[in-house]
Amino acid sequence: MYALQSLLILASLGVNAFGATYSQSDSHTGTGFLKSFTHEAISDPTHGRVNYVDQSTALAKNLTFASGDTFIIRADHTTTLSSSGPGRDSVRLQSNKQYTTHVTIWNIRHMPQGCGTWPAVWEVGADWPNNGEVDILEGVNDQSPNQATLHTSSGCSMPSSRDQSGNSVGNNCDTASTNNAGCGVQVTQSNSYGPSFNSNGGGWYAMERTDTEVKVWFWPRNGNVPSDVANGETTIDTDGWGQPFAYFPDTDCDINSHFGPQNLIINLTFCGDWAGAVFDSDNCPGDCATYVNENPAAFTNAYFDIAWLKIYE
Ligand SMILES: *[C@@H]1O[C@H](CO)[C@@H](O)[C@H](O)[C@H]1NC(C)=O
Ligand SMILES: *[C@@H]1O[C@H](CO)[C@@H](O)[C@H](O)[C@H]1NC(C)=O
Repeated sequence: MYALQSLLILASLGVNAFGATYSQSDSHTGTGFLKSFTHEAISDPTHGRVNYVDQSTALAKNLTFASGDTFIIRADHTTTLSSSGPGRDSVRLQSNKQYTTHVTIWNIRHMPQGCGTWPAVWEVGADWPNNGEVDILEGVNDQSPNQATLHTSSGCSMPSSRDQSGNSVGNNCDTASTNNAGCGVQVTQSNSYGPSFNSNGGGWYAMERTDTEVKVWFWPRNGNVPSDVANGETTIDTDGWGQPFAYFPDTDCDINSHFGPQNLIINLTFCGDWAGAVFDSDNCPGDCATYVNENPAAFTNAYFDIAWLKIYE
């Protein structure tokens, strides 16, 4: 009896002690991204003024550049485009591996900026939206702050009050009934996105997906970042990370049935359904597609510089 009780106590302690502890399964830096991600030369379903190129084209044109702990993907910033031709050359990367429950930490030094830009770091499964989408870092036209968003099939919504530091901008995650908006949460810090993120040297984004919740954190460079995050340690404990800016619990959303295996994606498009629609109200000049076509130099800073990506399971 005593032994059985001890075993049960130990077992429950074990579950609690290891519940938020993860081991590193993948670590990507520099040229490692070229092997673990595929450049996808596809057309943008969100109607962007973009021309995604394949890996050999991206390397030849120096749109993708990898050396040491620098990994850069960028838009073309030298070519004036004809309005009747393809959009601006850019890069869309998709991880070769898929993940279910996991943690990602992105150490990003610089993100694309400029009127018309629509960059994103996100995760998505096949047969959208049935395997769900998690947007970690996304925005348009240099408008800070960052917003993290879930997009799902029907039957997934978030409680209006929950344990997060950010501000919810919609609690229904069902993409069909929200005109594709999903349920988003904005970071409170303005240096979470765009020019102010870049002038501060960027920072770290992290996402945790379990069977019962999704959490997203942001720490600016020189901020109060947990040491396991800053160092990309081989073992991490998300319980020590403090309150996330975005918290998506399973109160009114069965996470396992709305989220399947997902690929990690980094991309940069222009104009299209979001950046183009609000180009004018975001105080950008004239018409978005015309601006993208005629002002290559405006995209000199339209690049990601990623120090590393680490994935934990
Ligand atoms: C990324 O690319 C995909 C496919 O082209 C597109 O659906 C999505 O809207 C793009 N998102 C951003 C933020 O560029
Ligand atoms: C390619 O881009 C990298 C990163 O911006 C830069 O350091 C390098 O000089 C470029 N190479 C060429 C040949 O332009």
